[in-house]
Amino acid sequence: MLCDLLVLFSLFNFSSGFLIPELQNVHLYVSPTGSDLNVGTDASNPMRNLHRAIQRISEPDIQNKNIWIELMEGFHDLNSTLIINHRNDYRRITIRAYQNQKVHVTGGKRIPSNHFTKVTDPSILQRLSPEAQKHVLQTKLSDAGLTDIGQIVPYGKYILRQAPLEIFENGFPLTLSRWPNYGFINITNVPSGQRYSTVFQYNSDRPKKWANQSDIWVYGYWYQSWADKAVPIKTIDVPHKTISLAQPTHFGLRAGQTHPGGGYFRFINILDEIDEPGEYFIDRTTGMLYLWPAFSKGLYSSNDVIYGSMINTCIQLTRYTSNVVFENFILEACRHFGIQAQDSSNITIQSMEIRNTGSYNVYCRKDCRNFVISKSYLHDGDGGVTLQGGDRPTLTSSNNFIIDSEISFFSRVTSSDANAITLDGVGGHIEHNIIYRGQYTAIRWTGNDHSIQYNNVFENCMNSSDCGAIHSGKDWAARGSVIRYNHIHHNLQYYYGADVRGVMLDDQYSSVLVEKNVSITYEFAETRLLQYNAGHLNIGGGRDNIVRDNIFYNSTKFSIQVDGRGSAHRNDKSLMNILNKLPYKDTLWTSKYPNLVNILIEHPEEPRGNQIYKNIFYNSGKQYTVKWDPHKPAWFDVHSNIISNSTNDFNFPKLPYADFRTRCALTTFVKSNHLTTPILPGQTGPRYHVGPPFVTPRPSWLLGGSHGNQPSPQGC
Ligand SMILES: *[C@@H]1O[C@H](CO)[C@@H](O)[C@H](O)[C@H]1NC(C)=O
Ligand SMILES: *[C@@H]1O[C@H](CO)[C@@H](O)[C@H](O)[C@H]1NC(C)=O
Ligand SMILES: *[C@@H]1O[C@H](CO)[C@@H](O)[C@H](O)[C@H]1NC(C)=O
Ligand SMILES: *[C@@H]1O[C@H](CO)[C@@H](O)[C@H](O)[C@H]1NC(C)=O
Ligand SMILES: *[C@@H]1O[C@H](CO)[C@@H](O)[C@H](O)[C@H]1NC(C)=O
Ligand SMILES: *[C@@H]1O[C@H](CO)[C@@H](O)[C@H](O)[C@H]1NC(C)=O
Ligand SMILES: *[C@@H]1O[C@H](CO)[C@@H](O)[C@H](O)[C@H]1NC(C)=O
Ligand SMILES: *[C@@H]1O[C@H](CO)[C@@H](O)[C@H](O)[C@H]1NC(C)=O
Repeated sequence: MLCDLLVLFSLFNFSSGFLIPELQNVHLYVSPTGSDLNVGTDASNPMRNLHRAIQRISEPDIQNKNIWIELMEGFHDLNSTLIINHRNDYRRITIRAYQNQKVHVTGGKRIPSNHFTKVTDPSILQRLSPEAQKHVLQTKLSDAGLTDIGQIVPYGKYILRQAPLEIFENGFPLTLSRWPNYGFINITNVPSGQRYSTVFQYNSDRPKKWANQSDIWVYGYWYQSWADKAVPIKTIDVPHKTISLAQPTHFGLRAGQTHPGGGYFRFINILDEIDEPGEYFIDRTTGMLYLWPAFSKGLYSSNDVIYGSMINTCIQLTRYTSNVVFENFILEACRHFGIQAQDSSNITIQSMEIRNTGSYNVYCRKDCRNFVISKSYLHDGDGGVTLQGGDRPTLTSSNNFIIDSEISFFSRVTSSDANAITLDGVGGHIEHNIIYRGQYTAIRWTGNDHSIQYNNVFENCMNSSDCGAIHSGKDWAARGSVIRYNHIHHNLQYYYGADVRGVMLDDQYSSVLVEKNVSITYEFAETRLLQYNAGHLNIGGGRDNIVRDNIFYNSTKFSIQVDGRGSAHRNDKSLMNILNKLPYKDTLWTSKYPNLVNILIEHPEEPRGNQIYKNIFYNSGKQYTVKWDPHKPAWFDVHSNIISNSTNDFNFPKLPYADFRTRCALTTFVKSNHLTTPILPGQTGPRYHVGPPFVTPRPSWLLGGSHGNQPSPQGC
């Protein structure tokens, strides 16, 4: 009960000092200018290291007291993973910025700006373009104590990235030099004709420039437009434009093609290709860093903060750790996770900024409970949050929350599976978040009884296809989740391959409720590589999905796409495996999910029980409203929907800040079906300041909510 209150209070930002009155509070002060010889209990004599403060929590003088670790202004560089081992139901450890001071906890080391000099070595200069020669700076990393550079290791789908040393300029990640900088070049031929070959040809003269360089890597979508991987090159035969890879790729190789996608790549880690602001390269034999500053012109000034990441995971909670709160500071420059936990409970991450991590910003797996991320600003990770918890057989809720937070630029290096949120288990809540700018999926969920609501989800799936901004799949038993009151928009398709959708119920996912004034919209966006069309929702052969009371506005290809792929392909074995592991015939399950009990004797391969009703569709041109594939409409119960033919039917002051309140021809439909007012974009997303108080909020145009000042349209 007490801790329930804690979670509740922390969500609503009550000052938490009074929460455990029966326990004495101890404050431990840590400052980058302190000393570990201090006991640290008074603010004028702080300790030096966070590690020392964590050691103190088990010392006799404070053993049974609530502990507040007060971080004082400045950069707290961790020299190794901060391990917190705390199994305690009663006392709490809070690590926070002292009096809202500007606090950074980093897994890196600062490179003093005066270490950077212009490049003068002619053998280096001759490799750079004339423009780059003017801008590229260099420094020897070991001069600043960055001795462990690490190795680039393969990354991509199915891999939690382990980064080597990376460089961050004033809080922004720099990019490992690459070519081409944007988009990809095609594989033109796989000479052996064998899919699982590691030898292929390309068509470009560019690599001629790079003769004699070692450690060149290639990153690409080798066979599927949804499976990326970076692998080292074994040899490159420049005259014959042939590359032999040192490692196999995902799913093999094929020549770049229009459908179903895949077969394209770029080169990475090449000195010569530092050819635009923000690119860097590290020579692993000499330990030299070369970079073209992202923002500053000429040499860096003393205000510029350049960091190299040094340690792997920054903060690790040992298994079963409980009752820990992180609050009001920036955590950054970790090569692996920002915060990692397993089977942890009663953890709160509140008003934090976590950025520039090599893998997920926050990662808690197995059975995490009462794990709350609120009012936090997570960005530039290789993945945002992974949160797994609760118990599926007993349908016990995890009570995990990701709420009032911003997760953006979340797939910084890896595209596929580096999601903004990966949610698994039972009873997770993803609410009031703003989630945008992803290379692939934003929210990927599995398990039962989750809620995904009041989120503003846009500009995802930007560098891949066969993608859903909100995506789940391959599970007949994953039931009881709701997706509602979200504003899902501008998730468009730029690359060849299967479609991009707002909500993707892939491969026989079953039983989700997508309902109630979800304003799903796709509007026109600029064309980059290709402009195939994108859709709002698909039901990929699953069952018992209910889609009602939505506005499906102006898709570029289809509003809803449904199919019976189980029937066409037979059922995937993994569907049976998951089902058989769950007690779906027990009373608990049958009372909650009555349609599941007889699934195996009711043609599980058919997409039965799906209902699509009381929705409003508007499309501007040739798009499908409901696209059937294969053509068996009888499988889906589609009724009482309305197709609007005019933008006048919506209260559209101005795109793209859509106001989906209906009017004109739709008012009768809305009244007779008892539909309520759709939510406005401004009702989605965070309700509070996101991140520590000293962090400037994102630009307001990103909220998509500035529709209020436009005049409403008149007449019909
Ligand atoms: C990290 O710093 C602490 C405290 O100064 C010190 O005791 C420890 O030896 C250091 N560890 C490493 C790996 O350098
Ligand atoms: C977590 O908090 C709940 C109440 O919200 C409490 O019942 C439980 O004992 C706590 N668990 C741990 C491991 O601290
Ligand atoms: C997509 O890839 C381009 C490089 O082609 C990169 O610059 C961009 O940041 C990526 N988009 C996202 C949303 O990460
Ligand atoms: C590559 O190395 C060879 C032999 O060391 C040298 O002759 C050649 O000029 C080098 N090529 C480039 C482009 O640096
Ligand atoms: C890759 O191939 C596709 C056709 O298969 C073509 O449309 C595209 O322009 C090619 N890309 C490049 C960079 O050559
Ligand atoms: C609908 O989308 C198309 C692009 O597919 C765009 O040209 C058009 O302007 C959009 N119309 C409205 C009213 O949003
Ligand atoms: C839109 O046009 C279709 C076909 O012409 C018609 O059936 C439908 O009633 C129209 N919708 C509205 C809201 O007028
Ligand atoms: C639609 O959203 C509004 C605003 O959040 C809410 O008041 C209303 O109850 C919702 N409609 C339905 C059908 O739940």
